Amino acid sequence: MAEFKTVSPDAPAGEKLLNWVDNRFPLTKLYKEHLSEYYAPKNFNFFYFFGSLALLVLVIQIVTGIFLVMNYKPDANVAFASVEYIMRDVPWGWLIRYMHSTGASAFFIVVYMHMFRGLIYGSYRKPRELVWIFGCAIFLCLMAEAFMGYLLPWGQMSYWGAQVIVNLFSAIPFIGPDLALLIRGDYVVSDATLNRFFSFHVIAVPLVLLGLVVAHIIALHEVGSNNPDGVEIKANKDANGIPLDGIPFHPYYSVHDLMGVLGFLLVFSAIVFFAPEFGGYFLEYNNFIPADPLKTPSHIAPVWYFTPYYSMLRAITSEMMYALMACVALAAGLAYFKLKLSSFMKLVVLGGAVVAIALMKMIDAKFWGVVVMGGAVVILFFLPWLDNCSVKSIRYRPDWHKYLYGIFVINFVILAYLGVQPPSPIGGLVSQVGTLIYFGFFLLMPWWSTMGKTKPVPDRVNFTAH
Ligand code: HEM
Repeated sequence: MAEFKTVSPDAPAGEKLLNWVDNRFPLTKLYKEHLSEYYAPKNFNFFYFFGSLALLVLVIQIVTGIFLVMNYKPDANVAFASVEYIMRDVPWGWLIRYMHSTGASAFFIVVYMHMFRGLIYGSYRKPRELVWIFGCAIFLCLMAEAFMGYLLPWGQMSYWGAQVIVNLFSAIPFIGPDLALLIRGDYVVSDATLNRFFSFHVIAVPLVLLGLVVAHIIALHEVGSNNPDGVEIKANKDANGIPLDGIPFHPYYSVHDLMGVLGFLLVFSAIVFFAPEFGGYFLEYNNFIPADPLKTPSHIAPVWYFTPYYSMLRAITSEMMYALMACVALAAGLAYFKLKLSSFMKLVVLGGAVVAIALMKMIDAKFWGVVVMGGAVVILFFLPWLDNCSVKSIRYRPDWHKYLYGIFVINFVILAYLGVQPPSPIGGLVSQVGTLIYFGFFLLMPWWSTMGKTKPVPDRVNFTAH
């Protein structure tokens, strides 16, 4: 046990109380380590608002969620009506509900911006690989949380969206149909599905999410924050061991982040009060119709934040499988002829390609669609090991890398747009090209990230954008 510290008997009561606590719980130590003596780079910019904003939205979702649960009924016969009751009869119920539904979309906007920041400044690279991996796990949980939450209002889109997505699992060979049955708890989406999704949405997933967020921040504070220059501030310390380019998180960034919070709340409130449906993107119009298992809507689309992945799912048709097989054959050919592999490894590469192509031919394209959709998220976990560029930040990379990132973002937005639209031949073709661009960006990264001439990285951080 650590030595008990004492304070002067004349000390103020507050100091005595704090000392009493500190002797039993490391309150001051934690405050110093994570706030007043956590030295963050002094050149944070706009993109660095989004971490604290993600925390804010998490709190908004949990608090509004707690109040929603007080009046919501997870029962297929009354779920829809209970949401209407919240909207019309519960005092301030409409506000709580709109904050929660707008919060879901806000969460994804904030997290996408947060991930984009990580991407352009190389924040996923050594020594922050685990910060990134915890982040990717958070993203997966967030998707599961949003998907299950969307079933709860029991509208037409809730019902049919869940039906479509759960049915995808049945495309998995051997275990698929049983797995889909296990997820639904029935042969179609029903009251049993609603009950289990409710349970996961209100307790299981949020618990995991909270744990992951804590791990994310502990990992970040262990290695220290990156910054727009990608310079490690710990490499330049003063005589007291404090980074020369670091400033204490509190009060500097606590106040700075407060400004981000105010800006965010301004936009958030404007949407909650004036456009909570956001043109059918945040709350889909079809979801104001109660779920009807006997009436399939003519067009089923997930909420906007899932649509890039949904586009990729729809892009995988049996014709597209031939393009994918050609990609596998090309990759194997390149590895065979261009890489210096032992003859054993060459055999493994060829054998692997033959098996992969045979499986692609044998198993239905629907299954591969699911693999591609899942793979689009899973690939993010590997980013720290795909990027071989000698510099971290986009500021010091060759200019054309910026265009590549630009194309990646535009492609992602196009995929998102196409995912909302009803299927069309031209849309299908564009989604297929978009899917190839998305995966090409990551899978070819080990190669393209080493190309081009990087700019000299300064020793110290600076404030000029490049
Ligand atoms: C609930 C969701 C999340 C919360 C609450 C959260 C919170 C935070 C906070 C507070 C920071 C420090 C402030 C900042 O750098 O902006 C941070 C940093 C970071 N986060 Fe997240 N995060 C979330 C999701 C994610 C996701 C999905 C990813 C990536 C897949 C991610 C990757 C990172 C990285 C790489 C850093 C370090 C950035 C740097 O130092 O440049 N985070 N996060």
